[in-house]
Amino acid sequence: MKCWVSALLFFGVAYYVMNALFTTWLPKNYIFDKDVLNGLVNETLAKHNSTSDDFNLEAMFKDLRDAMADHYGDEYVNEYRREDWVFNNAGGAMGQMIILHASISEYVIIFGTPVGTEGHTGVHFADDYFTILSGAQYAAVPWSPVREVYLPGQTHHLPKGEVKQYGMPPESFALELAQGWIPCMLPFGFLDTFSSTIDLQTLWKTVYLTGKDMIKNLVNGKF
Ligand SMILES: *[C@@H]1O[C@H](CO)[C@@H](O)[C@H](O)[C@H]1NC(C)=O
Ligand SMILES: *[C@@H]1O[C@H](CO)[C@@H](O)[C@H](O)[C@H]1NC(C)=O
Repeated sequence: MKCWVSALLFFGVAYYVMNALFTTWLPKNYIFDKDVLNGLVNETLAKHNSTSDDFNLEAMFKDLRDAMADHYGDEYVNEYRREDWVFNNAGGAMGQMIILHASISEYVIIFGTPVGTEGHTGVHFADDYFTILSGAQYAAVPWSPVREVYLPGQTHHLPKGEVKQYGMPPESFALELAQGWIPCMLPFGFLDTFSSTIDLQTLWKTVYLTGKDMIKNLVNGKF
């Protein structure tokens, strides 16, 4: 058989199998729940008055991380360390993130931007739940002349395979849960390094933090 025919066949079969597992076996590996996370976000928001003078976003992030660790166990939720924040360029948007959990079937990150950004969501082999912590997220499908607006405490669900344009005004942050075939999402998060930023230090740090966490979880039996 010609090499490209074998390759096509391989990817076709792999896609078919992964798609079948997406709704059957893969969800059995999930430990996080979008509603539980939304509840933890709401409880954290209630403790931090965003209009008061001593409102502190970073203190809120730490509280949220601790609430997640209390609920799900320290072994599944990484410590909050300032030095673990990385920039992320993808789909024309730029933001910053900290990885709270990364395994083969799930990730949870805090993602946002002090400066503001706008871009393409990417096409993902995963369901994505984006719960706003501060600021807002705007989104739109191609036929819509009107934007969707998501505010603190609200979750924007982007189902597998669907795409939107999105934007975030300055000082907007969200807790993002993705559930699906996470390794398939990674090229979207990395490729801008080669086509645009050439920020190899950020790439290395992101690959290191993601890989380390995925292996740690796998060794602990969390796929
Ligand atoms: C969290 O708060 C938002 C906004 O007030 C509300 O729409 C949502 O239902 C709440 N969710 C949970 C799980 O408490
Ligand atoms: C939040 O802070 C503002 C400004 O200090 C104050 O007016 C408001 O009552 C506070 N809200 C709550 C729920 O404490």
